[in-house]
Amino acid sequence: MKALVKAQAVEGLWMQDIPEPDIGPDDVLIRVHNTAICGTDVHIYNWDDWAQKNVPVPMVVGHEFGGVIEEVGANVHRVMPGMRVSGEGHVVGEKSRAVRAGRFHLDPDTKGVGVNIPGAFAEYLVIPAFNVVPLPDDVAMEQAAFLDPLGNAVHTATAYDLTGEDVLITGAGPIGIMAAAVTRHCGARHIVVTDINPDRLKLLETVVPTAVPVHTMKEDLHDVQAHLKITEGFDVGLEMSGAEPAFKQMINHMVMGGKIAMLGLPGQPFNLDMGSLIMRAITLKGIYGREMFETWHKMLAMLQSGLDVSRLITHRLPAAEFQTGFDVMRSGKAGKVILDWTKV
Ligand SMILES: NC(=O)c1ccc[n+]([C@@H]2O[C@H](COP(=O)([O-])OP(=O)(O)OC[C@H]3O[C@@H](n4cnc5c(N)ncnc54)[C@H](O)[C@@H]3O)[C@@H](O)[C@H]2O)c1
Repeated sequence: MKALVKAQAVEGLWMQDIPEPDIGPDDVLIRVHNTAICGTDVHIYNWDDWAQKNVPVPMVVGHEFGGVIEEVGANVHRVMPGMRVSGEGHVVGEKSRAVRAGRFHLDPDTKGVGVNIPGAFAEYLVIPAFNVVPLPDDVAMEQAAFLDPLGNAVHTATAYDLTGEDVLITGAGPIGIMAAAVTRHCGARHIVVTDINPDRLKLLETVVPTAVPVHTMKEDLHDVQAHLKITEGFDVGLEMSGAEPAFKQMINHMVMGGKIAMLGLPGQPFNLDMGSLIMRAITLKGIYGREMFETWHKMLAMLQSGLDVSRLITHRLPAAEFQTGFDVMRSGKAGKVILDWTKV
């Protein structure tokens, strides 16, 4: 089969012919139809410090996918061949206290599809049946390709009650934009989204026209807040940039007792005055991955009840043209880039 492989410990990815993966008794073989490129895949392409420390070479990359089940292992009864599916890219163990208690997303032994174990940028993918999520008929295969990051957005946005609240989102990357869409769906009042990349803010306006985009190098967030009459500060903050200036700005614009959920991964440690958090009595919650499988249930239900993030797709390409996809992702101008694995 064709697969996109991190074949050498240098910048780049290579489309190669490799054997189809073996399927164990508890596994499912999926014919991959659509995949989406994630920031993690770009880190692996770039072969930055994080990738060098975490990704063994060679490795089939990719973890955002939708496809159709081709074959199931002998012990698998919940799903069957022919089903349209996506799946959770975090493969958990069975030993930790968190797993034994059913808090699967908190398992310290988690392995990442396309990071530590063979991934989805291929014609065929094998994952444990446990990880497979069947798709409702009205959820498109293209959407299935980026349920994983939508799940990050849903997990973060559902950390706190958003109904009637004023919400500040820092970072209008694909996940920040989807978080704005989810926040709107959950009934927030004002949604303000900051970034320093005008292309990203433009995309935000396309996907979530009722969110307020703020370019923080050009506009003062105090003015925006005053204009919207958010007098005491934002009730909820969703940190989606991993950028120190964005997080510090968020803290300064929160209401006393405000709540912040943090998804963005900092490239380096923040130099932070902890007093700024304490004196505002801020609650902070770190968000990792998606809750298995409550986040999946909620996001599919939201998609079935009007949540629409399809305009986040900026590029649709045959998988054979993956290089174009990675080039636009690396330019910072893309939303979601979908690769079609029925055209390799
Ligand atoms: N915790 C998890 O499980 C998990 C999972 C997936 C992604 N992530 C992280 O979530 C974040 C969002 O993911 P993404 O794919 O949308 O990332 P992205 O890198 O595409 O988006 C981040 C955005 O933040 C913006 N930004 C940079 N500096 C800023 C500033 N000072 N103020 C406001 N915005 C600023 C960037 O311009 C960019 O648009 C990333 O940090 C990613 O690593 C975490």
